Amino acid sequence: MAVKKVTAVALLEMKQRGQKITMLTAYDYCTALLMDQSEIDVLLVGDSLGMVVMGEENTLSVTMDQMIHHTLAVARGTKRALVVGDMPFMSYQLSPEQAAENAGRFVKEGRAAAVKLEGGADFVPHIKAILRCGIPVMGHLGLTPQSIHQFGGLKVQARTDEASARLVKEAKMLEEAGVFSIVLEAVPSDVGTKVTQAVAVPTIGIGAGPDCDGQVLVFNDLVGLFERFIPKFVKRYAELAPVMRDAFAQFRDEVKSGTFPGPEHVYQ
Ligand code: KIV
Repeated sequence: MAVKKVTAVALLEMKQRGQKITMLTAYDYCTALLMDQSEIDVLLVGDSLGMVVMGEENTLSVTMDQMIHHTLAVARGTKRALVVGDMPFMSYQLSPEQAAENAGRFVKEGRAAAVKLEGGADFVPHIKAILRCGIPVMGHLGLTPQSIHQFGGLKVQARTDEASARLVKEAKMLEEAGVFSIVLEAVPSDVGTKVTQAVAVPTIGIGAGPDCDGQVLVFNDLVGLFERFIPKFVKRYAELAPVMRDAFAQFRDEVKSGTFPGPEHVYQ
């Protein structure tokens, strides 16, 4: 039976029906396949790739070529989910033309069906330029990790009334520009609620409270594979790191002792 694809439009309808949206980050074919089989609605090829796959301190060094490489792998493992490519640092900030050109690469070369970019009012022209090419855009407000140096670290945002009102205003501007959803990262729960009520497009929270229209987590955090630090908003649904270390150690012991490969693993 043909699988019904999740589309940007379908996410809007889910908000209208009060159905929660699920999104996870994915970076490779095998993981994307499992997430798709688990009916996760959106697979975001996040620039968190820089940290959880490439082992960098932050997301700033991620390149377009790396993102395309991983987006294509995720797209190949996906039949149902909406695949969103995350525009890396300096791939869209310079001009609307640059934004449109690189968003086009995500679709043409990476087989993504939408892109995400960080930032508010300053990036409305960039969002519009991408939309003019027929590419749906997901916004990202609150803690935007590409601005880590400006924020002075990965800190909770919109803690004051003024900052919270500014965030609501920016969300409305993104909605007006035409985004199909907005990621809200690391803001107080009541701010997540206010933004979600203020816009008709779905909000997808990561550390933005339970009232967002959907939730997103970084895959490596969810399954316990990223041990460097655990943000407060992460729930670990599995602890894969010890399981994997144990498997690697068993392999090591069996090879060293000569018990692997056994007769059942040998061609006669
Ligand atoms: O890059 C990423 O993983 C993200 C999510 C945290 C939303 O942008």
